[in-house]
Amino acid sequence: MRPFATVKAADAGLRVGRFVEVQDQARLYRRLFGRFATGVAVVLAEENGEMSGLTVNSLTSASLDPLLLLFCTRKESRSAAAILGAGRFSVNVLSARQRNIANYFAGQREEHVNLGLQRENGFVWFAGSNAVFFCEREAVHPGGDHQIILGRVVDLRGPEGCDQMLLYHEGQYAVLNPRAQAIPMEIELP
Ligand SMILES: Cc1cc2nc3c(=O)[nH]c(=O)nc-3n(C[C@H](O)[C@H](O)[C@H](O)COP(=O)(O)O)c2cc1C
Repeated sequence: MRPFATVKAADAGLRVGRFVEVQDQARLYRRLFGRFATGVAVVLAEENGEMSGLTVNSLTSASLDPLLLLFCTRKESRSAAAILGAGRFSVNVLSARQRNIANYFAGQREEHVNLGLQRENGFVWFAGSNAVFFCEREAVHPGGDHQIILGRVVDLRGPEGCDQMLLYHEGQYAVLNPRAQAIPMEIELP
């Protein structure tokens, strides 16, 4: 395996020369993957009064029949271990107004955050999310230094119209404004 990649200095964020050899492939990989813009979600669970949450942008819809979603976490993630231990969790797709919640569950615990917590049927979630998927633990698969967590969606809800979306791109938050004309759901919302 060739541990080198040649990229434009500007792209790699390095200041020396026009072209540089980048030895740290993982860093380059992260850098380039950062161009794959995503939404931002928080996976949230509660067990014995103890809440655990984790901000993720690795969220993907995995299957329609059955309804499955997946996200990836570091193998050593303490939050992921607690969420898996609880066995059920909510996945909250965040709006731009919930940026402080994203920061909170990405480790910036010092912020004073109004989480707007809701509770029902052993699930805990955030009011004001653009979508909430209620999941039961389906499977955990190995994935290098990460683990791939599959959740079976047992319930789901969201507002009729999508609020400003919180996005993540090139290591920074961004905002996507809703369409001037909302796309109708055409289904009865719970
Ligand atoms: C926008 C954003 C997306 C993130 N996505 C992931 C992710 O998909 N998987 C992950 O393990 N960590 C992700 N993180 C980092 C975790 O949220 C953060 O490291 C958290 O504090 C981990 O908690 P832990 O130490 O209990 O694992 C993300 C952080 C941010 C700000």
